[in-house]
Formats: sequence, C-alpha cells, structure tokens
Amino acid sequence: MDKATYRIETVAVHSGERRPGPEGSVIFPIYQGTVFSIEPGTGYHDIQYIRLNSTPSQRYLHERLAALEGAEAALATSSGMAAMTATILTFLKKGDHLLAGSCLYGGTHDFLTQHAEDLGLSYTFVDDQSPDSWKQALRPDTRMFLVETITNPLMRVPRLRQVVEFARQERLTAIVDITFASPVNFRPLSIGFDVSFHSATKYLNGHSDLVAGCVLSSRANVDRVRRTLNLLGGSLDPHAGFLLARGTKTLALRVRAQNANALALARFLATHARIKEVNYPGLETHPDHAHARELLSGFGGMLSLRLKGGAAAAERLLAAVRIPFVAPSLGGVETLITQPAKSSHAGMKREDRDRIGVTDDLVRVSCGIESADDLVEDFRQALAKV
Ligand SMILES: Cc1ncc(COP(=O)(O)O)c(C=O)c1O
Repeated sequence: MDKATYRIETVAVHSGERRPGPEGSVIFPIYQGTVFSIEPGTGYHDIQYIRLNSTPSQRYLHERLAALEGAEAALATSSGMAAMTATILTFLKKGDHLLAGSCLYGGTHDFLTQHAEDLGLSYTFVDDQSPDSWKQALRPDTRMFLVETITNPLMRVPRLRQVVEFARQERLTAIVDITFASPVNFRPLSIGFDVSFHSATKYLNGHSDLVAGCVLSSRANVDRVRRTLNLLGGSLDPHAGFLLARGTKTLALRVRAQNANALALARFLATHARIKEVNYPGLETHPDHAHARELLSGFGGMLSLRLKGGAAAAERLLAAVRIPFVAPSLGGVETLITQPAKSSHAGMKREDRDRIGVTDDLVRVSCGIESADDLVEDFRQALAKV
C-alpha cells in the first residue's frame, strides 16, 4: 500500500517517524539542544537553533503535522495566538485591509480590535453566513479573508466553500482557524484555503497539558510564516513539541469519540424540558446542518446551550455537574464546562459579546472521551437540580 493512501489513523501513528529511528528508537527522541554544528554557507534561517524552528525535533514535528492535515508543510508555534498573529503579520502589510468572520475566537477578535489599527491594518467583520454581503465590504486594499471552521461558542459553520470561491475571485488570501474541527473532521487545504492554523493546545494535543499552535500551507507560504515567527520569537520548545507529537498519535481515536459524545449529549439536551436551546451542528435542527454535513466528516466535540432559567440556572448547572471540570479551554480527553461570557470572551466589551450572542446565560461544553452514557446521566442528574 502506498503511503499517500494511508488513512488518518495510520498517518497519525506513523507520520514523521524515521525508519530506523535514531539509535533504533521506535519513537523520535527529544533533541533538547538549542544549537547544532553549522555547515559552511548555511543561511541565517537554516541555522539549527530552536528559535529558528529548525532543530531535528522541530522538523520531525513539522512533518507529522503536515501529514495529518495533508499539507505540503507545517510550522509549530508557541501557542495558537502565535500561529494566528504570525500568519496575519506575514500576509498583510501596513495599509492592508482584511475581511474577518464576525464570530471569531475572543483572542483573535481582541488582536484585531485592539492592535490592528496600531499596525496600520484595517478590518471589517462580515457575516460569514451571508456571501451576498461580502462584496460590499471589499475595498481596493482588501487582501485577506479570515474565518473559523466551527465558531466559538455558538457552533455556527460558516459558508466555507463560498469563502474560498470569493477569495479566489477577489485575489484574497483565504485563512482558516480549524482548531474546533481538527483535521479528523475537516481538510481546509483540500477545498482551497491557502493557509490553516490551529491552537494545538486543544484537539491536536488533546491532553490539556501544553500550549502550542501550528500553521499549515504550501512550502513557500510556511517558509514565509517561519521567517516572521523567527523574528517574533514564537518557537515551540522541543519538550512541548514531543508531548504534542505524542498527543497527535491518538488524534483520530479521540476526536471520533468526542464527536460521538457531543452528538449523544446534544440529542439528549435537545429533548430536555429545562433546556431552551442547544447549539450543535450535528443536530438536524441546527441552521447550518445541511452544509456542515457536506463539508465536515464529523461535527466536533463542542456544543453550547441555554437553559430556560437564564444565567442563574446556568450557574446552578455548572455547580451540579459531577464529571465535567468547570474550566475554559477545550479539546482535551476530559469534559469541560464553562460560561464563555466569563471565560473565553471575558476580554470583549459587553456590547460586542451581546452582538454575537455570547450572553451570560450561554454554557459551553467541550466533550471528552468518557462514556457517552455517563455524560448523559450526569447532565440528567444536574438538570434535575437547576
Ligand atoms: C479557536 C481558537 N483559536 C485560537 C485560540 C488561541 O490558542 P492558544 O490559547 O493556544 O494561544 C483558541 C484558544 O482557546 C481557540 O479556541
């Protein structure tokens, strides 16, 4: 069987592994050295030095990440925010304008609203569900269209094919944050996105024990981002990179279990008398279900809900669940529950939060890999108390 035809489970286990590995090791070891001997004539960016993202452990991780997403090349970064900022600062220059989906991760939103202007960049938030509205937001200096695959925390799935078509037509760089979907559920480069990036802190690592990010694209694009990152200083330490590479080995198994748990929990919650609303693209009643079904091979492990009793009932639910940890972040093997208005979106102004529906009564759940039956039973007992 040709390597190119391996399915994601096989790629996740084997990609990047040397055969034979150093000293015969089955797994690639950690090269923790900051610097390596230099060959005459080596250019600055190719010196093997950790900040330059060029040491053996970093190159190994890059190969694994690229293979997982079917990308030509990958770059690991010190966080998801470093991946996002290095990408924006690579493809935009002073005077450029970008279109951005109106419901972005809080940190990305805050970077644009608090720093873009100082950097000479401008932006317009557009409704990523309404392709007809995009043309009027275009300007002669528009260069980029930035969206997410599944938005946080309302779990909307933007019109991603139309984003790519529009970007092609208008010669914009199409960039997507695919943290929520992971490459198990979505392959953005295969539908024509130019660049994708992740907070690898979430599903790629999957164990809530490191912060990292990555950028994926063609070799030429990744080289450009690497040069920016080399100057910004956002490289990932090889020890954290080792943990990330290890986490990715079980990515397919974990994400499939998380998809199944979220679907089971969403279906249960949707029929419960105390629940006002469940946001999960896998439910037939979700407004984006039809195109999400066509784009994604799984609907993800994230859902959000509102209770009939509003914010006070939301707080009682958080106090009554026994399995989930009450904590922000997502994508780990343990189920987490949080109120986004008080965690991931707390940095935003209230009026911005309200505009995108992140009100105090909203509860977000990141499903882990526990038994679906245990999760449903736990929410059943907690809902009886709210
Ligand atoms: C969708 C999304 N993108 C980016 C980030 C930023 O990632 P990090 O915390 O790894 O910098 C997050 C973090 O929650 C996220 O949820």
